[in-house]
Amino acid sequence: MISILVLHGPNLNLLGSREPSIYGHHTLESINVHLVKLGEEMGVSVVAQQSNHEGVLIDALHSSQDDAVVLNAGALTHYSYALRDAIAALPIPVVEVHLSNTAAREAFRHKSVISEVCAGSIFGFGVLSYDLGLRAAIHLCRDFKIEAPHK
Ligand code: DQA
Repeated sequence: MISILVLHGPNLNLLGSREPSIYGHHTLESINVHLVKLGEEMGVSVVAQQSNHEGVLIDALHSSQDDAVVLNAGALTHYSYALRDAIAALPIPVVEVHLSNTAAREAFRHKSVISEVCAGSIFGFGVLSYDLGLRAAIHLCRDFKIEAPHK
């Protein structure tokens, strides 16, 4: 069975109470429950993990036995070359997601240092970004197994 790792970075454990006008009212737990259920409906296994620590996220990528990753790297997106290099080293596709429309926010959020090593990026749709990200990851895995590797 296809297995997808959903990885959430710094401060995403605060979803629900963190700046709800930007990030909405859904908690991380409710997002994870939704993604596991969507995975079940689509016949894939979804495991979610969150950390506020860059190294823990990198270790999670290194030790992943999954077929693809859906990653919201939080603010690390904008400056973590270590995370970028960890993604580049992975033989599986990583889909970058963000709840908010980072392109419409502060200038420092306009740059993602991970986009170029991700299979694609989805941002600005609130929790739907995760939903679309998971669907994209599943699509890539299914293609990935039949056709040429994505990277
Ligand atoms: C975020 C956007 C980042 O700029 C921010 O630092 C976050 C959340 C998002 O999901 O919109 O922590 O990744």
